[in-house]
Amino acid sequence: MEAILLVGGQGSRLRPLTISTPKPLLPTAGVAFLAHQLARAHAAGVQRIVFATSYRAEMFEAAFGTRAHGVELAYVSEDEPLGTGGAIRNAARALTCGPDDPVLILNGDILSGHDVPAQIKVHKDAGAAVTLHLTEVDDPSRFGCVPTDASGRVTAFLEKTSHPVTNQINAGCYVFRRSAIDTIPEDEVVSVERETFPSLIASGAVVMGYVESEYWLDVGTPEAFVRGSCDLVLGRLASSAMPGEPGERLTLAGASVSPGAVVRDGTTVGRGAVVEAGATVLGSVLLDEAFVAEGATVRGSVLSRGARVGPGAVLDEVILGDGAVVGPGNELRGGLRLWPGIELPPTAVRFSSDA
Ligand code: GDD
Ligand code: MG
Repeated sequence: MEAILLVGGQGSRLRPLTISTPKPLLPTAGVAFLAHQLARAHAAGVQRIVFATSYRAEMFEAAFGTRAHGVELAYVSEDEPLGTGGAIRNAARALTCGPDDPVLILNGDILSGHDVPAQIKVHKDAGAAVTLHLTEVDDPSRFGCVPTDASGRVTAFLEKTSHPVTNQINAGCYVFRRSAIDTIPEDEVVSVERETFPSLIASGAVVMGYVESEYWLDVGTPEAFVRGSCDLVLGRLASSAMPGEPGERLTLAGASVSPGAVVRDGTTVGRGAVVEAGATVLGSVLLDEAFVAEGATVRGSVLSRGARVGPGAVLDEVILGDGAVVGPGNELRGGLRLWPGIELPPTAVRFSSDA
């Protein structure tokens, strides 16, 4: 089977991590995020994937080449971003399958343990034009809200509505009949969520929902990105792409963790990264060459390449860009982000948790 992977977004909610690296290539549990998706797609029977690229397009081919994780890869780039629907239509030029064959379409920022072959079976049994993977979340207003009838047929598609009618949402994995992709206008900016799905439903096409409650996460926000990486390390979602066994931490080659440090809750310690004695690092992502000095505490945070945390400093849900430096004694909390190269002098910032 062939698939299209949507990877053209700017990942703006993850800045500054995505200034130099597109979201799907961010190191996650030791490898580029997409490696986990490619490995899972391969396991589900996908043999060939067309990447629909736009933002920093050239970096994808440089990262994966023509074959990775058992899947043959092709790349189609948009000069200007065409939106999710326009990107699917554009990338379909590179498909080789027949008009009635199923094509898997994947958002490039999803970790999912759902049963793709079961989704394809629902699609084939119903003779559907499109079959959407649906899952339930607590806050559906941030997603595509997708009600279904008793037979599993989709009755509406409401993208990011402030009045969701169900907690059932679009999980970002579709099976399209190849010919249904051709109903999307060519060379135009089209949203599959706001235009294609509503118009397919309105025209009476069979659009099915495949509901599953296996592990599912969109890693598009800093908090979710950290959680996804830690969940992979902890083995909450199995991934054959992870360079190590599941456990409390993943320590990559060349990393140095002092025996006197506490590093757990799914933390990744990147190549050449250092955690000194007396430091505590919980549920975090330390990229290559990151440094955590003695007595520092880091929780739920991302330290980008070469970022440094000084002695005794505290970071709680903080993002440090490449080479950012937090001087000794600072205390940073609650979603703070330091742009690449920013240096905080000693004890410049202190956020007390009861302030
Ligand atoms: N090639 C290309 N061109 N890709 C794009 C473009 C574009 O113009 N715009 C977005 N993408 C890609 C992104 O890179 C991402 O992989 C995917 O399309 C979805 O974009 P997001 O920006 O992550 O959308 P979202 O998370 O707000 O919402 C989408 O995903 C939710 C599930 O996580 C929607 O599909 C929602 O309906 C859905 O619930
Ligand atoms: Mg997303």
